Amino acid sequence: DVEEVYTWKLPVPTAIAHRGAPYFAPEHSIPSYEQAKAIGADYIEIDLQMTKDGVLIAMHDKSLDRTTDGNGEIHSLNLEEVKQFHATMSTTGTMDNLQSDVEIPTLEEIFQHFGHSVNYYIETKSPYDYPGMEKELLKLLSKYDLLEKTDENGVPKVIVQSFSQESLKLVHKQEPSIPLILLIDQDFSNISDEQLIEWKKFVIGVGANYQKLTEAQIDNLHGHDLIVHAFTINDSETMKKYIDYGVDGIFTDHINLLMNLIEEL
Ligand code: G3P
Ligand code: CA
Repeated sequence: DVEEVYTWKLPVPTAIAHRGAPYFAPEHSIPSYEQAKAIGADYIEIDLQMTKDGVLIAMHDKSLDRTTDGNGEIHSLNLEEVKQFHATMSTTGTMDNLQSDVEIPTLEEIFQHFGHSVNYYIETKSPYDYPGMEKELLKLLSKYDLLEKTDENGVPKVIVQSFSQESLKLVHKQEPSIPLILLIDQDFSNISDEQLIEWKKFVIGVGANYQKLTEAQIDNLHGHDLIVHAFTINDSETMKKYIDYGVDGIFTDHINLLMNLIEEL
């Protein structure tokens, strides 16, 4: 048998629906991801937290307080307790179509719901607080046949992102085929070329706070063969500016604005 080779390519700019489409439905809920899919995002972005009984759920914060009708730290609650509450909150601004009583989804429920019909850009959040979260993520990716897969355009079904190098290294060690993005929330002028060479050993690029990122730094990252996905840009003018600077992708709460812009390119 000829061994199948897993190759992929990313569109430029890659359109990443940050927390789904949180202007249309509560962030990190199935309706929010549904809306992002309908608008045509390349990826739905999912932040992960882990319950006391070891279940991965989609949520940005470590506690339920901001985005749900409940309270408490997720690591101290079992899934059954978390499931009593609902996703209720947008990231930002006014929502015209806010739905109430929306379920807080587990990662498994998201995979069951969307299957291979979307691409997933998954963040291991607070991995120090959740030992084993990478293993659980990889188990689910395997169970839902999401490893070494692309969509019909050759775009990888899954990218994993984290602010934690250790978390990404754990994933890389176990599944080197998964494209990884290291999130950076600091000024790139403080990051040496040696550091970039080190990162390139396990990641395909960086997710960078656009407010701390210059055009020259984007060029330098490209010079090290690292792609650059900028977070989180929510207005068309700034999106256009950073596309002109050469970023390879954008995280946005307003995926509709980004898709409109990409259509005009
Ligand atoms: O994952 C990219 C961006 O989402 C990082 O910031 O805090 O929104 O997860 P945060
Ligand atoms: Ca995130």
